[in-house]
Amino acid sequence: MLCNERHFPSVGLALVVPDAHYPFHDRQCVQLLKGIIEDLKPEAVISIGDLADCWSISRFAKSRRQQVSLDREIEAASWGLDELGITHYALGNHESRFETYIQEKAPQLEGMVSWASSLDLDKRGIHWCEYGSYFAFGDCYFSHDFGVSGLTAGSRSLNLVGSTVVFGHTHAGNMWSQPVLRDDHPAGFVSAVNVGWIGDHDQIFYRNRAAARRSYQHGFGIIEQDPKGGTWGRFVPITRDYRALVDGHVFGVR
Ligand SMILES: [Fe+2]
Ligand SMILES: [Fe+2]
Repeated sequence: MLCNERHFPSVGLALVVPDAHYPFHDRQCVQLLKGIIEDLKPEAVISIGDLADCWSISRFAKSRRQQVSLDREIEAASWGLDELGITHYALGNHESRFETYIQEKAPQLEGMVSWASSLDLDKRGIHWCEYGSYFAFGDCYFSHDFGVSGLTAGSRSLNLVGSTVVFGHTHAGNMWSQPVLRDDHPAGFVSAVNVGWIGDHDQIFYRNRAAARRSYQHGFGIIEQDPKGGTWGRFVPITRDYRALVDGHVFGVR
């Protein structure tokens, strides 16, 4: 089972795809990320979860305009896995709606059908972990969230895990770094990277859109590790006209 593979060796370069909420993703952001991935050729492309919204099976009341079928949501997420070339997938709370729905509506199917099986994650060779779990490259831990949210999620997650952490969920983008006292730590610092969001502002049903425009940040994460054990993680914001600066090069939508 790929989901039991929890620890991987350090990676040279990984790109972290933030919450996309397919089919309510921002198409321009996805196009931009595709171009960056094609150019940088990272060893790992990690979805940090909420790749799919699973709106159709949420408990929210839905107006006619907000109707979407689960079929379409799975198809969109499947497309997203392919177009971004996802290699690792830490499921988020939105994907866990699928398991909750089965438990409540069809408990006899529990264990027979899951979000992972709906997307054939194992057959596709995608390493994945359930919501609430994590995986690590070297000393860098990836999870949709570490059980905390809000503006201080980075520093609190870092202190909870005691190592470098990468997470999504809050839809904010930022980075927090902190020295380590231990003399034998390879880098002498650990960091927390909050990788932002690539959803579509005009397709938010669950929050006031003005508030979302002020706090949901388009962007993504870049993680680099050196053979000596240092992890450099950063959040890369995406501009309003869909540009991103990586290693001195300005990428745009082709
Ligand atoms: Fe999310
Ligand atoms: Fe989330």
